[in-house]
Amino acid sequence: MNNPSAESTRPQIVVLGTGGTIAGTATGDPSLPGYTAGVLSVDALLQGIPALSRLARIHTEQVANLDSKDMDFAVWTQLAERVAHWLAQPHIAACVISHGTDTLEETAYFLQLVHRTNKPVVLTAAMRPATALDADGPQNLLDAVRVAVQPQSRGLGVVCVLHGRVHSARDVTKASTHRMDAFTSGERGPLGEVDGDSLRLWRQPAAEPGAPFAIPAAEAWPRVEIVLNHAGADGALVRCLVANPALHPALRGLVIAGTGGGTVHQQLQAALLWAEQQGVRVQIASRVGPLRGGAEDGLNAVKLRVRLLLELGACRA
Ligand code: SIN
Repeated sequence: MNNPSAESTRPQIVVLGTGGTIAGTATGDPSLPGYTAGVLSVDALLQGIPALSRLARIHTEQVANLDSKDMDFAVWTQLAERVAHWLAQPHIAACVISHGTDTLEETAYFLQLVHRTNKPVVLTAAMRPATALDADGPQNLLDAVRVAVQPQSRGLGVVCVLHGRVHSARDVTKASTHRMDAFTSGERGPLGEVDGDSLRLWRQPAAEPGAPFAIPAAEAWPRVEIVLNHAGADGALVRCLVANPALHPALRGLVIAGTGGGTVHQQLQAALLWAEQQGVRVQIASRVGPLRGGAEDGLNAVKLRVRLLLELGACRA
């Protein structure tokens, strides 16, 4: 039987399901590779983790159930609205989001840029499907809830909890296609680690200049594409994107994943100057990893795109 006083003191949190390998199931022998992501419901995932009920009173909501390679603006808008809705409730202490690993860093950074309260938002994911013998999802979900209920987590913004590490949304990136420890925060390192039921914090997240932005309506997202610099990058792709009247919506921004410290081939450079003359905003990242210094400090190309999408959508709150 539940202890009524414990019932009233446990924090209330919401777990939002969006799919991913964490909710994936193998079709055959669980020791073999091959599975479908985004099959199980968030309720089914939590049922397998009885230790959660000791930590929090948990509400759930299934926002989507997809392979995160298919993430789109409609789901982002809906997810951000549901997070804002739940966190506006005084009795809700935090949101946890289960997600696929492939675009986790993009969703996390988008949510970071529209996040308005000091209540924690914690994303988690898994490298093995729920039916695998060595599934990492249950431990990651438990750790995510452990972090979400910590008073220390207030004010950290949006974080990702994976393999016992706590990463800030700005810094985290997927760096392995197969290792369980697939995520890194690069030179800055994680914010901290999960230590039993507690959180050991090593540093605070970097400030997020210009945020928060308003959440764009699903149909109000502008088009921003990423173009890679490489040997023989002659700018033809940029010219096709800018001059194509069939593109709806039309191109508004370009993020260039440059070589090294953000350098671009001279022919691509000429195409970019022309694109800017046509009214396209161009921003430079590096294909090697986050650049240091300037407005783009610490952002890789996919995150710079997220920021530019919000800036061009005139979404400053
Ligand atoms: C996905 O991103 O939804 C599939 C891959 C994964 O979660 O690891």
